[in-house]
Amino acid sequence: MAQIREHWSGSLGFVLAAAGSAIGLGNIWKFPYIAGENGGGAFVLIYLICIAVIGLPVMLCEISLGRRTQKNPVGAFKMLSPHRSHLANFAGFSIVFTGVALIFFQEFGWAVILLILGGLIIKCGWTVAGMLGVASAFVILSYYSVIGGWTIGYIIKAVSGHLNYITESAGSKCFSGFMVDLRWVIPLHLGFMLLCALIILRGVRSGIEKWSKILMPILFVLLIVLILRGLTLPGAVKGVSFFLSPRLELITAESVLIALGHAFFTLSLAMGAMITYGSYISRKQNLFLSTISIVILDTVIAILAGLAIFPAVFAMGFKETSGPGLVFNVLPAVFSSIPGNLGWLWAALFFLLLSIAALTSGMSLLEVVVAFLVDELKWKRGKAVFISSSVITLLGLLTAVSFADWSRLEWLHIALVKAFHISHGSFFEVMDTLTASWMLPIGGLTISIFVGWIWGTRKAVEEIRHGSHNFADVHLISLLAGLKDDPSHNNSRYHVLTLASLWGIFIRFLTPVAVTVAFLHKIGCLNIK
Ligand code: ALA
Repeated sequence: MAQIREHWSGSLGFVLAAAGSAIGLGNIWKFPYIAGENGGGAFVLIYLICIAVIGLPVMLCEISLGRRTQKNPVGAFKMLSPHRSHLANFAGFSIVFTGVALIFFQEFGWAVILLILGGLIIKCGWTVAGMLGVASAFVILSYYSVIGGWTIGYIIKAVSGHLNYITESAGSKCFSGFMVDLRWVIPLHLGFMLLCALIILRGVRSGIEKWSKILMPILFVLLIVLILRGLTLPGAVKGVSFFLSPRLELITAESVLIALGHAFFTLSLAMGAMITYGSYISRKQNLFLSTISIVILDTVIAILAGLAIFPAVFAMGFKETSGPGLVFNVLPAVFSSIPGNLGWLWAALFFLLLSIAALTSGMSLLEVVVAFLVDELKWKRGKAVFISSSVITLLGLLTAVSFADWSRLEWLHIALVKAFHISHGSFFEVMDTLTASWMLPIGGLTISIFVGWIWGTRKAVEEIRHGSHNFADVHLISLLAGLKDDPSHNNSRYHVLTLASLWGIFIRFLTPVAVTVAFLHKIGCLNIK
């Protein structure tokens, strides 16, 4: 007997769960420092444009694919793929030929990967796009959970008074000692995965939805408390102006591409999460408004995170361009320098905020893999959660150990160097590059081409129209002019600019071109200055 699919209890449950997936380390750890390095306010502006014209349209694609099919990413693409697709066959054969060519250049590792990938595309067609999403969630969670573990470790350190240093160099020393200490890092990674697994085991409503409804408001309150603390420090205003005033001279083509790449990561796009969460939505819900709400929440939290961090950093006289170490090296020192001896409390609250953000994203990535196993292999949820989280934990152990000492994994290092000519970088960097530079852009490209050209924007709009009439039927100009209920401005026999038609143009043309350019630049085939 086919099992009835569990659904969110309503729009709020879905929006909070999906916003929980989107809001993560990307918003609170990565966004502030990449904005800091790429021109502050000017970067924020470009990032907002990328979110609006690429992130939001692709998210709507994913959520409508999920709701239409009521399936995991692999099942969704399988259900909507045409029997034969010339484009998929063309891509499959081209990849196989490239794989064969690489054998002559003795690039055996890449050749094997391309031969398998090309063969899969020829055999399974567009379904491979769904497999790519599940694989991305799997790989990302393996290293995400190690960093999630660090955030929990830092709460413990803060509360036990081990973060009370006041210089950045003491901060770096503490952090580099911490991340190589496997007695801390491994149990914390296991703990983080265990928390994700326990929530996912409870299912959609009593697990993901219930915990998102508890954790997201806490996250919001913590952020506000930290912003108030930062903004009320003398000298804080310099930090606000650094973060929000545009310095156009720091904007380069490279920073635009960084903004585009980050838009995908931060909205959890191309990692199967939005298709999977979309598959738990009922037909009554307004997909368009829900998508906008998720994107706005994600963006607001990223900006608030910047406002929680930079005013304090500037007020206490620290460097704003500390890059990835900003959160772990600098912030504890910033908090300890705040007069009043409550540094431990601010640090504990900040790392609690970061752990919550990481947890709600981590659980969504685990749900992608679990939904695939439950739907496609017909496993029971318990078995799917146990086996998938165990395998992801094992893969994550390689990341944890590689941070500590890459030479401990010499056999793996030698094998990777031989097969792929990866001569430097830790296992974490290999996994990060594999997902951020390859899997996510290729995934985003295939999703937009599939919805725009294969499934078709017309069918996608039919799906989105259930519960969100404004999206498909209201003339955009009439909407902006406040005339949306005037019959003469809608129901027109002429072609009109609706939100749906604008979305269709973005999906069919703008997204594929922008993502292809970003991808070619990232892998070094196109040099944009
Ligand atoms: N969207 C999640 C983040 O921003 C993965 O961290």
